[in-house]
Formats: sequence, C-alpha cells, structure tokens
Amino acid sequence: MGAVWSAQGPRTTPRADSTGRLRTPMPRPTPHWPDSFPHRPGALAPRGRDGAVASTDALATRAGLDVLAEGGNAVDATVAVAFALAVVNPEAGNVGGGGFLLVRTPDGEVLAQDHRSAAPAAAHPRMFWTADGGISEDAVVGHRAVAVPGTVAGLHDAHTRLGRLAWERLVEPAIGLARGFEVRPRFLASLPPHIVEGLSRFPSSAALFLDDGGPPRPGEILRQPDLAATLMRIRDAGAAGFYRGATADGLVAEMERGGGLITHADLLGYRPAWREPIRFEYRGEVIWSMPPSSSGGVTLAAAALQLERHDLARLEWHGAEHLHLLTEAWRRAFADRNHWLGDPDHVEMPLARLVSSAYASARASTIDPRRATPSSEVGPGVGPGRRASHPPREGMHTTHASIVDSEGMSVSYTTTLNTWYGSKLVASGTGVILNNEMDDFTARPGVPNFFGLVQGEANAIAPGKRMLSAMTPTLVTRPDGRLRMVVGSPGGATIITTVHQVVSNLVDFGMSPVDAVAAPRVHHQHLPDRIDVEPEGLPDGVISSLEERGHRVRRGEEEWGDVEAVVVDEGGDLIAVADPRRGGVAAAL
Ligand code: GLY
Repeated sequence: MGAVWSAQGPRTTPRADSTGRLRTPMPRPTPHWPDSFPHRPGALAPRGRDGAVASTDALATRAGLDVLAEGGNAVDATVAVAFALAVVNPEAGNVGGGGFLLVRTPDGEVLAQDHRSAAPAAAHPRMFWTADGGISEDAVVGHRAVAVPGTVAGLHDAHTRLGRLAWERLVEPAIGLARGFEVRPRFLASLPPHIVEGLSRFPSSAALFLDDGGPPRPGEILRQPDLAATLMRIRDAGAAGFYRGATADGLVAEMERGGGLITHADLLGYRPAWREPIRFEYRGEVIWSMPPSSSGGVTLAAAALQLERHDLARLEWHGAEHLHLLTEAWRRAFADRNHWLGDPDHVEMPLARLVSSAYASARASTIDPRRATPSSEVGPGVGPGRRASHPPREGMHTTHASIVDSEGMSVSYTTTLNTWYGSKLVASGTGVILNNEMDDFTARPGVPNFFGLVQGEANAIAPGKRMLSAMTPTLVTRPDGRLRMVVGSPGGATIITTVHQVVSNLVDFGMSPVDAVAAPRVHHQHLPDRIDVEPEGLPDGVISSLEERGHRVRRGEEEWGDVEAVVVDEGGDLIAVADPRRGGVAAAL
C-alpha cells in the first residue's frame, strides 16, 4: 500500500495529500479560535493502517516510513528517524545530546528509557557561579556547557532489546543524508542571526553550517563529511562507534582544547536507564509518560489530575474559566516540579504522592475559581514561592517523533541538544554538534535558567547526575487497553503544557487530531507569574477576563512547540499529525 503524506510548510494551514484515503470524517465540533491565528481548524491528516510516522522533517519521516514499509518495527523506525534528524535538523536532532523513549510493545507493556545527558565527573554545583550572584554564559555556550551525550547509547540499547531489522540498515539513511542534503526553508529557519552569531564563535561550527559567515542559500547542498564518518563508525560498531575510538578521541580532544570537562572515562561510563513510566488514569483513559529524570510525566499528571474534578467539557474551550483552571493547575504542578524533582539516581522524590489523585485534589482545592493565586503564595505543597524576573524564552528547542507500526508497537521519542545547536560547538573532526544541557540543572538556586525555570536543590549539579528535563513523550490508551494517541513536542518548559493541551483537546473537548495539535496554546510555569499566549492565540475579551481575575497575561512574540502525533481512531486507523507551526511532516502506510 502506498504511503500517504502531509507536507506542511512553515506557517501554512495543514493540508492533506490529495488521495481519497485521507478523508477523515469529522463529526466533532470545530473549535473556535481567533481568525487571525494562522492555523485554521478543520484540516485533514494522513491516515493508514500499516504504520505511521510524524516527525519534524520530511527526510526523517521518509527514513522512518521506509523502515516500516520494509517490515521494521516502530523501534527500528525510531532509530532511523533519530539519526536522520541528527543530520537534517542539526539544531535539535542529535548524536551529541540526549533524550527519552517511551515504547509500547504490541502486547501493551509500556517501557520508559532515559538516555538523558549526564554531568561529567569533574562537574560541581558552583561551576557556573559568577561573583555578582548570577550564572556565567558558559552554562549555555561552549565547552563547559556540554554534558555527556546519551543519544547513541540509548538508541543502540533500545534497538538491541526491541529492534528487528539490522542496526546497520537503520543508520544508513543518515549517512547518505550527511554526505549531502539540499538546504530547505525548514533548515534555514533554524539559523536566525543570534544562532549564526553563536555558531560563528567556533570555527568548526561556522565551517560546517555557515557559508561566508551567514546561512547557506536555499537549494545548496549541505555536506557533513565528518558526521558521515562518525555515523559510519556508529553503524559498524554500535554505541562503541561513539563512546570509544576515533569519535571519542575527537570529543575529548575538543574538550581539552576549550576547557570542557568530559573525559574518556565519562564517555565509557555512560549508560541509558530503563525506568518505571508515569501512569495515571484520566477520565477513564490511561496516560503514560516519562518519569524523572524528566519532569514531564509527573507535572503532566499533577496538572491533569487537578483538573479531573472539573467537567472541562462543559466549559467553553479557551474561555476565561477554562484558562483560569488550566493555568492555576499548572501553577501548582510546576511549583512542585521545580522544588522536588531531579535525577532519581541522586535524589529522593515523593513521586507516588505527587501523581496521586488525593494529592491533586488537595492542591486543586486551593484554586480560587474567581481569582488567580499569586505564585508567591504557591510553594511546593505548602510554603513560600520565589520570584523570578527573567522571562522564559519561547522556543522550539528539542525535537520529537511519534511512530506506530502495523503490529501496534508505538514509540514516543523526544530528543534534544537543549537550545538550538546546543553549545554551538562542533567537536572538530567528528561533525558532532554538542549539547548545552548543563543549563538544565539548577546552576544557582533562585536564578532562572534559559527557559526561565527557577528550580531547586534537587536539581543541583553533581558528578554523573542527569539534569531535570521537561521532555514529555506520552502515550494515551483507551479503557480497554487499545492505543489512542502517541504524542510529544519540543519547547523547553512549554513542552509539558503543550502536550497537556493536545491531550486535553482530544480527550476533554473531542477535537479532531489535527485541531487538537493546531489549536492556539497558552502556558504558565509558576514563575515567572504570568500566562503566556501564542501570538493571536486569544481574543482581547478573554485576555481582559483573565486580567480581571488577577492574571498577568503576556502575548508571546512567537508560537511554540512542534507537536508530532499519531492518533488511533475507534476503528483502528492511524492518523498521523504534524504540527503546522514549523513544517513537520506526517505520513501513514
Ligand atoms: N533541554 C530542555 C529539556 O530537556 O527540558
């Protein structure tokens, strides 16, 4: 059966392939959102029964779909997509970063693999402190910002346990792409002036991604021969092709050149971890998500369970009452997240309590239906909050793919370099762009990180420790156990609220899959104490109503998130959905 594609350019209305198989019946109510919001409700999405892939890039989606068509399973396809993204979406796809895999096997078992980056052994809690009480720029740029990458170890381990096709076959498409791919608008959009400036600081990065100091031109072929050679070593030797031998030598030599901390021992010592997924019931459905070292699942559960006591479906979607409840729940969930959560191998956390209905009920009972509670009055559980003045920067940082195969194996995979192009540093001779994940730690208590998150001691830097993430790869299953949705997104702290909104749009408001993803988004993360709204995302009247309740509302300058999802309808059809915001591409077999 031929593949069915949706190819969306940035900021265009989602559109579907022209074949009749795409026609999705839409008995559900069309949501109303401002006419000026650029993404229109009611679009269609590719539909199939033999597999579906949604990722942020057409070439990566193609790599995954080809694997499925050849009889590979969803984990095989994820490996192919992940390596392809490392080449064609180098701002976030990676071999030099880390991520999280949530896998549902055909018999319904859900497995969570954590291959988050880790602090090098020489890291210490005050390594980024400045004399004036802040944190230094090298938490985000250059050699010291780099944490030990986990991606290759995680993908190889997942494939060893769950894959079907040969590893070599899955790495091969990325090698071809690294030898050269055509520069398209999607890639150029990742090179705004401040990113060009960051990459320009490092000759190895400028030589790879820039052309005479600026972005390459559309239609040029971007060649990454050193990355192709690194990928060949990974193809031939598996994880050892990255953590040992020439690649490792190149990474460590780069660290030594610029005062970075990663050693051969750090690379050799890195291991992915299989963890118990976060599982909670929500209106009869079961939601599965990522446990720490990501905060995604816990925060999602904590917010959703507070809202379960309200019949959201009876509220006007994106009316002031709905948004008040949503953002008050997030305020409380993020207060707990920021205080309690960290790497489970280093800190004790009251996880069972934080994701329990009883605790959510207690938290929700403090929500005043008429007034915003200032974040200064919402601490973790009970206690004072802290103030932050640093504005979170919106973004698409990170990348995500959702994949389902013909046997029902499903993967939700989110991966990151942290900010776009991570540390902006390519390790010379390897083609590997290195993460700046060290900034996801609490570099200094009380001082916000890049995403404006004010985090606690639980997330302090320590040798070998994984920094807390917001990545939220998520699955939804129906009460009878059948899969309903695979979903995830980039976007730093906004990942959690983005995934929550998409799930709620689908489960609470019965939106079609494409509407659930395209709909305007809002965000609150406890501190700074305000609701962020996507540009044109809310009518003035709703903003005024929120302000009358005591909320501070900021209209963002950019959209955020880049949701990639696969939804399974009642009849078992797979509906692949790519976010229209940046040009993700979904396809089904
Ligand atoms: N680097 C963003 C996150 O993991 O939350």
